[in-house]
Amino acid sequence: MDKVGIFYGSSTGNTRDAATQLRGAFGERNADLYDVSEVTAERVLQYRNLVFAASTWGTGEMQDDWERFLPALRRLDLAEKRIALLALGDQQNYPETFAGWMGALADELVAAGGVLVGSTEVRKYAFSASNSVRDGRFLGLVLDEDNQAGLSAERIARWVRQLRREFA
Ligand SMILES: Cc1cc2nc3c(=O)[nH]c(=O)nc-3n(C[C@H](O)[C@H](O)[C@H](O)COP(=O)(O)O)c2cc1C
Repeated sequence: MDKVGIFYGSSTGNTRDAATQLRGAFGERNADLYDVSEVTAERVLQYRNLVFAASTWGTGEMQDDWERFLPALRRLDLAEKRIALLALGDQQNYPETFAGWMGALADELVAAGGVLVGSTEVRKYAFSASNSVRDGRFLGLVLDEDNQAGLSAERIARWVRQLRREFA
């Protein structure tokens, strides 16, 4: 597997912690970790395998640092990149917009030639609506540190087993 570039944006630390765990699960030699507030978008071009990780704010929008990172990302050629999305959200307080940013970003990335990998089951989550669901599956991995923190380690471990195949 080519090295994975994990790019995260986090306002209160939950996504940073999840992204750090994710890197550990890949093994530090196999993945690099970047806070999008500290790198230029061009860094993405070093990797064929990418994870874009962000929490959800407002009404289903991407975390602020990621919003600021996006315009520069949009100018890059993402053709052939394999991209997995990781969203942090809160299904209890935001059941209508749970992890809601993934759908719009996924559409953009695919339109730019990227290949989306890493969809997961919606089983064991309770919410009423999410733009992150397509054909009955989440477009990436969703973690809920506010209500289901105890499930995150296992969700990350399972996702990494899946991504090792889909990134290969
Ligand atoms: C003002 C506010 C708005 C939020 N909006 C949403 C939302 O629309 N959908 C969602 O799933 N989670 C929402 N959340 C929950 C956060 O995404 C969640 O707490 C996340 O773990 C924060 O991660 P971070 O510390 O990496 O920023 C919101 C939280 C706050 C405080």
